[in-house]
Amino acid sequence: MKTILITGGAGFIGSHVVRLFVNKYPEYKIVNLDKLTYAGNLANLKDVEDKPNYEFVKGDIVDSEFIQKLFAEKQFDGVIHLAAESHVDRSISNPTEFVFTNVIGTVNLLNAAKTIWKDHFEGKKFYHISTDEVYGSLGEEGMFTEETRYDPHSPYSASKASSDHFVRAYLDTFGVPTVISNCSNNYGSYQFPEKLIPLFIHNIKNNKPLPVYGKGENVRDWLWVVDHARAIDVIFHQGKVGETYNIGGFNEWTNIALIKLMCRKMDEKLGRPAGESEKLITYVKDRAGHDLRYAIDATKIKRELGWEPSLQFEEGIEKTIDWYLENEEWLENVISGDYQKYYEQQYVKR
Ligand code: NAD
Ligand code: DAU
Repeated sequence: MKTILITGGAGFIGSHVVRLFVNKYPEYKIVNLDKLTYAGNLANLKDVEDKPNYEFVKGDIVDSEFIQKLFAEKQFDGVIHLAAESHVDRSISNPTEFVFTNVIGTVNLLNAAKTIWKDHFEGKKFYHISTDEVYGSLGEEGMFTEETRYDPHSPYSASKASSDHFVRAYLDTFGVPTVISNCSNNYGSYQFPEKLIPLFIHNIKNNKPLPVYGKGENVRDWLWVVDHARAIDVIFHQGKVGETYNIGGFNEWTNIALIKLMCRKMDEKLGRPAGESEKLITYVKDRAGHDLRYAIDATKIKRELGWEPSLQFEEGIEKTIDWYLENEEWLENVISGDYQKYYEQQYVKR
């Protein structure tokens, strides 16, 4: 039986990866290590928490002693590293936290993997989940390929770029078998409502202003989170050590076009007159250093590993809006902060 460590498994993407692996691979023991920051929510994993091949460990990847002990005890065969501070706006107000978690946390995990695997790297893999933001910003033309030069602009993307460099350095210097993927913007269920799509669904529903940064002309390439989790599965099992894979949806939207689409769909779903929700759009001061456009060229992963997105965006956004409307309790618990009591109830007082 293989023991696989998934870090950040209580977050948005991590919870989808944990769910996929626990259900698909009963022969693996899946250990979810998460600090449960504001972004970590164990209620995201209620449907798998009692499965025999799943274990939750509360801990901080910045604590090197704890990480070394955990690796020595569990003797992981593979690592899928998602734990991170992930919100660009928070990195602008508190950059240092991003250096601790995203850079030092990643190096601590690499050190621990290097220690327990020593020179016996056969069959082992350290898979680092990164972002397209490390490539910087595109003009109107072109796409990010795996060869695009790194050019991060925000403290978040600078910290992710730095962690990517450490991951490659540990392969080159020590032989730790690493692989990296860089993905575009994810959307779907269980996303923390500080990010554009869940925040705006919540605000539209509650007739609150929709704060559009700048002119809303920035472009993002949106991918359904379940498709990202499928790509992570494929790369973890078939990706070549030392390689980088870009993951994206071939699905570019300006923010304003996406927001208007969400408004139209929600008018229909909430039985509002057409055009009603659009009145909530409020243009606000632009994000500092706001990248204009991201677009991923995901041909390598299709060509080499056979992965491509399974869901078209029109269907995906519909499903996503429905999920947030149907899971009002989840959303309200997150907004009120009550979700943070779930760990106490489920794991401490049991
Ligand atoms: P998230 O913020 O929803 O979740 C992050 C998780 O990491 C949370 O559960 C949090 O508690 C945990 N965590 C944070 N600091 C920790 C620490 N010091 N020790 C242990 N756990 C800690 O993030 P997400 O959107 O799910 O992103 C997951 C990963 O994917 C990140 O590495 C991010 O850079 C990358 N990524 C995200 C997107 C996206 O669109 N969301 C796209 C590409 C790549
Ligand atoms: O590209 C991948 C990245 O996508 C991930 O690495 C990050 O972890 C993830 O947070 C996301 O970053 P973005 O900054 O693109 O996502 P966000 O949802 O914060 O914003 C999407 C776009 O919407 C961006 O151009 C900023 C804009 N925006 C966002 C918010 C929260 C607004 O106009 N108003 C808002 O209130």
